[in-house]
Amino acid sequence: MQASEVKRIRKIRVEDLEEISRIIMEVFPEDCNIIIRYVKYIYAIVRDHSYIVEINNNIAGFCINSVEYGRGHIMYLAVKSNYRRRGVGKALLCVSLIHFFYELDLSEVFLEVQTENVPAIRLYESLGFRIVRRIPRYYIDGSDCYVMVVDKGTFRNFCESMCISLLDDYDLHEVGSLFSKSSRHDYYLSN
Ligand SMILES: CC(C)(COP(=O)(O)OP(=O)(O)OC[C@H]1O[C@@H](n2cnc3c(N)ncnc32)[C@H](O)[C@@H]1OP(=O)(O)O)[C@@H](O)C(=O)NCCC(=O)NCCS
Repeated sequence: MQASEVKRIRKIRVEDLEEISRIIMEVFPEDCNIIIRYVKYIYAIVRDHSYIVEINNNIAGFCINSVEYGRGHIMYLAVKSNYRRRGVGKALLCVSLIHFFYELDLSEVFLEVQTENVPAIRLYESLGFRIVRRIPRYYIDGSDCYVMVVDKGTFRNFCESMCISLLDDYDLHEVGSLFSKSSRHDYYLSN
């Protein structure tokens, strides 16, 4: 982290949708129109589960999540290119997983990722996700996806402490009392 940087994680707000649309155009250029429309359409369903990272009040990345049939779903994760490899994607996933496993008490979280997307697959693996299946021609361009899942026990045993340390760098006061520093160290580890 650079010395004067203020890094904050907060829930998504409706006024973020414009900037999120711009990031989607940068990050997913081929499917951007469909994704932007879809995200606006499902906003009411995802807003309670979705997070933004701001660095010095600029949106650096977002993670759009939902709950489907009792499981957490990581739907869209994106970090602006000039903020990559600085832990932003991992921080967004950490907050999302803590939300699903501890705030909502879900037992499993899943996602789909393009089979060629090595950076994202490495990131997901670093948080305990494992590949459980491959779906042919899942994306509009005909490419396949992997379905990856992580369960609460795996997260607790292998990734929780790392997430807690990573989140120490962020202002989390807008994401709820469960994320306050004392709660993180006392509560998660005992639940
Ligand atoms: C995938 C993505 C979200 C990663 O965001 P990020 O903020 O750069 O990721 P982090 O800095 O948190 O990386 C954490 C770990 O993930 C892995 N990783 C991230 N980018 C990687 C890359 N380009 N190559 C290999 N591993 C990578 C590494 O293990 C990394 O840890 P390290 O930096 O200590 O080696 C970002 O590259 C992105 O927005 N890509 C385009 C959109 C996308 O593919 N989204 C996911 C599919 S929906």
